[in-house]
Amino acid sequence: MDSFISWIGGKKILRKKIVEQFPEKETFTRYIEVFGGAGWVLFSSDRHAKMEVYNDVNGNLVNLFRCIKYHPNAVQDELQYILISREQFYDAREQIEIRGMTDIQKAARFFILIKESFGADIRSFGLRSRDMQKAKEYLFQVSERLNKVVIENLDFQKLIKNYDKTDAMFYLDPPYYKTEKYYPDRFMPEDHERLKEVLEGLKGKFILSYNDCTYIRNLYSKYNIIEVERVHNLVQKKEKPRFQELIIKNF
Ligand SMILES: C[S@@+](CC[C@H](N)C(=O)[O-])C[C@H]1O[C@@H](n2cnc3c(N)ncnc32)[C@H](O)[C@@H]1O
Repeated sequence: MDSFISWIGGKKILRKKIVEQFPEKETFTRYIEVFGGAGWVLFSSDRHAKMEVYNDVNGNLVNLFRCIKYHPNAVQDELQYILISREQFYDAREQIEIRGMTDIQKAARFFILIKESFGADIRSFGLRSRDMQKAKEYLFQVSERLNKVVIENLDFQKLIKNYDKTDAMFYLDPPYYKTEKYYPDRFMPEDHERLKEVLEGLKGKFILSYNDCTYIRNLYSKYNIIEVERVHNLVQKKEKPRFQELIIKNF
């Protein structure tokens, strides 16, 4: 199934190519998506492993996932009262920060911000008409898919430490090198090195997505590096430019 949202750096286009690189299903019992975002890879299969974990450091995003998992009806009800206009979009941006809002009220507003912003940047109102009724109904399917998924809200280092085992399979899609500033939560340049150090001591298997650049190639030079191409979606030209991405594996 598809994810229910777009997200900056989301793997909608590449998800098939990424899953093709997974090890045989029998070789791992836990699947951990460390930089969850919209969870395109997670949602691309009915079940990746007996135990599945979705994680992201973004508290609003994790609250949205949790509310849809446990209270899809309540999120849908809350969405009924939020009509979409430019004014309401900017109201929702302010309201989400107000103390005293319930998790469900926040989740509905964050959902609107993602759906209605330009390129899902949460900041600017994007002028596009969407079938919100359909999007609302889809939340039930999402809730069912998340039924057995553990949802965490941790920094990657803590998460990896908690879940690492020899039969674990981690999929990691960090903010890309030099694109850190596009994310609401700061991922600092030195965090790329911190991530590499954490992965160095991993007991389980990992698959890591990155943009193709010399810095990342050098950082992960001792691993298995696979090059993949994807078409850039946001460019409205006849001839869409192609971009190289990397899939890095420790097996
Ligand atoms: C490229 S996006 C992931 C996209 C996702 N694979 C998808 O398909 O939508 C990177 C995500 O990492 C999260 N993130 C940033 N710093 C983090 C950290 N220190 N620990 C965990 N997650 C982090 C961001 O909030 C963002 O959602």
